[in-house]
Amino acid sequence: MVVLSGSNARLLAEQLATSLNWDHHSLETRRFPDTEGYIRIPSETIEAVRTQPVVLVSNTFPDSGIVETLLMLEAINDARSGNMDNLRNIGPQEMNDVGPGILLAIPYFGYSRQDKRFKPGEAISARAIANLLASRCDGIIVFDIHEPTVLNGLSVPVAFTSAMPELAQHLQDHVKPDFILSPDKGAILRASEVAEAIGCQFSYLEKTRIDAHTITHKAKDLDVDGKIVAIVDDMIATGGTICRAADALRSQGAIEVHAACSHGLFTGGAIARLVRYVDGVHSTSSLPNPRDVISGGPALARGVFELFEQLEWEM
Ligand code: R5P
Repeated sequence: MVVLSGSNARLLAEQLATSLNWDHHSLETRRFPDTEGYIRIPSETIEAVRTQPVVLVSNTFPDSGIVETLLMLEAINDARSGNMDNLRNIGPQEMNDVGPGILLAIPYFGYSRQDKRFKPGEAISARAIANLLASRCDGIIVFDIHEPTVLNGLSVPVAFTSAMPELAQHLQDHVKPDFILSPDKGAILRASEVAEAIGCQFSYLEKTRIDAHTITHKAKDLDVDGKIVAIVDDMIATGGTICRAADALRSQGAIEVHAACSHGLFTGGAIARLVRYVDGVHSTSSLPNPRDVISGGPALARGVFELFEQLEWEM
């Protein structure tokens, strides 16, 4: 079976292929001068796409990733259903339909934070993107999505997977934390899972977001005096959440503070800001980023196994 990828998740697709012991094929991707995207399944990959189920690994971030994902799904659907007609008359123009067999693995689901209608008239962006993608594949695997319930009721099955076991192992091997902190209530489940796997103390902060760049944390007594603390979150964007939490920890005596996340977006100089507040920044490979030290391959592989079982497909 094959793992496919376009331009934005090649490393993780290779890691997934290694975890599954499958082949990995890259699809051809390029941009026209006006920035519009172009994708093509190379001739030598068409047979692999048609003879076995495929897992396409692609991020819906940034916006160009959404378009690229849709174009790749379109081309894979055409190839599997045998629609090969082309103006240059290259190869057979029509082939038999080989049936279902397309899974989409989305390491970082862009737009996942717009998961509710906060004011009348807003689009629930995460749902809009999910519905579009679901109409072109047989199942979706998502990796540490911000709010899983936004994908409830999709037309295809969804496997929610997480890299927290690998993140815990990495922290244990390289940081040896005494204390894990969730920077807000939303990350409690993930961070407490890490604390449990490591066997160390855990607590959380109450965060209020004033705007995209301003965050306040409610003062809380934390037993961190003289301790090594790792803050665990699903994503780091501007770094504001982590910097404020690190401040709270230092003021209560933490001797070392690390930041760990599934998705390292690191927007607008976030790394430069973070290194002034924390001793280490650790991320998975869900997005290409300079702090990618944890492979997301095993987590995605668990999702692939789950969907194969649900869909009753043979490995
Ligand atoms: C929010 O609920 C998320 O879990 C993250 O805490 C947040 O998105 C991180 O954003 P930033 O790094 O910009 O503070």
